[in-house]
Amino acid sequence: MEFITLAKERYSCRKLSDRKVDRELTDRIAEAGLSAPTACNYQPFRIWVMESEDALNRIRSCTRQQFAAAAPVVFVVGACREEGWVREYDQKNFAEIDAAIAATHMMLEVQDLGLGTTWIGHFDVNAACEQFPEMKGYELIAMFAVGWPADDAVPAASHEKSRGEELVHRL
Ligand SMILES: Cc1cc2nc3c(=O)[nH]c(=O)nc-3n(C[C@H](O)[C@H](O)[C@H](O)COP(=O)(O)O)c2cc1C
Repeated sequence: MEFITLAKERYSCRKLSDRKVDRELTDRIAEAGLSAPTACNYQPFRIWVMESEDALNRIRSCTRQQFAAAAPVVFVVGACREEGWVREYDQKNFAEIDAAIAATHMMLEVQDLGLGTTWIGHFDVNAACEQFPEMKGYELIAMFAVGWPADDAVPAASHEKSRGEELVHRL
């Protein structure tokens, strides 16, 4: 499939079936994140994969997004500022950018595998760090509830809305 087709077919899937996702596929999603480019190749991010019933219940308790409850696997991506490249001119730390690129790779790999997900930013990071102390000290930038799309899953109406050419400046 051409990349542009994959990118355009992707949508935030908020209706997942409870069908199991094989380990081989979750490995591929993590691998896509690990292959992302990062500033100076410092790779200042972590990926947590919640797949046991206990871990899934704990991560679900950190978000009010109901569609996450059906997901058989949930990924959380965190940035490590201490490991990020810092631009000398303005002291900008690139850790969150790097983590977001890794997360985007993962989201597109989910699509390529025929699975569905939504990038969830709306979750309680303090609750997540309480449930998973290993996440403390990281900027938690994304939660992905991943699963097979339900038969009647459809994009939200807002999926089609694009500000289009307004955002592209040809100089
Ligand atoms: C950084 C980020 C955070 C998001 N957080 C949420 C969220 O917490 N809950 C949710 O339902 N969708 C969330 N979304 C999905 C967006 O609402 C969605 O991508 C946007 O409306 C465009 O729709 P589409 O993904 O179907 O094309 C998030 C997307 C991004 C990129």
